[in-house]
Amino acid sequence: MAEVVIVGSPEEGGALAASLIARVVAAKPDAVLGLATGSTPLPVWQALARLQLDLGAVRGFALDEYIGLEPGHPESYRAVIDREVVGPLGLTPSLVHVPAEGLSGAALAGAGQAYEARIDAAGGVDLQVLGIGRTGHIGFNEPGSSLASLTRVKTLTEWTRRDNARFFGGDVTRVPLHCVTQGLGTILRARSLVLLAWGESKADAVAAAVEGPVTASVPASVIQLHRDVTVVIDESAAAGLRYADYYREAWTSRPAWLR
Ligand code: GLP
Repeated sequence: MAEVVIVGSPEEGGALAASLIARVVAAKPDAVLGLATGSTPLPVWQALARLQLDLGAVRGFALDEYIGLEPGHPESYRAVIDREVVGPLGLTPSLVHVPAEGLSGAALAGAGQAYEARIDAAGGVDLQVLGIGRTGHIGFNEPGSSLASLTRVKTLTEWTRRDNARFFGGDVTRVPLHCVTQGLGTILRARSLVLLAWGESKADAVAAAVEGPVTASVPASVIQLHRDVTVVIDESAAAGLRYADYYREAWTSRPAWLR
């Protein structure tokens, strides 16, 4: 684990994560970003947009996508990424990819391999933004996901579908049962990870991911195997952390040359 940063608000956390992204893009204008959906990363995209960087050469790979929504569905992750990330940040649409795009039926079986090949051809992900679900999932890697998994089709838990029903008029039956998601092994291949969480509903998942055992039962715990992770969380999401005081001290007392 590299760093756990406890911030005062999602806005502050968003600004911090945006500064990490800006640093990567300054060094490599065509950097490859791993893009998470959900409500958690929104303050990051907002802060990044305010920096008014030229992100036209940046390449992007979404973490996951639902299976079974009609093309153009406003809650498909392609639509969400276009609306919340590509447009506001001025990314080039053709450089931003979502798994399984345009595929259906039997063709979906090959979607994972095709996406992995695409990520490899881009030279791998430089910085992967991650949210975390209450089941401890990252991407859509639900409990039981192999820690070595690559992009593939998964079945969503009832819990995740209920959490995400808010995007589907509160109707869980409208939330797809299946998805295609980058695997935990795919995520580990990214050169750096930034995991974000806000609010008390995420406190248990954050504590299990950061301080619990590395286990497929808490897929996000796989981040402990990565060399370059920044966990950015607000006070409520940090509520279950045993070593919170230590993380605060380590962050505030960083030597200037480490900043
Ligand atoms: C969703 C997404 C994840 C996201 C998580 C948390 O189901 N597939 O990528 O991180 O659940 O969502 P939110 O940020 O809205 O709480």
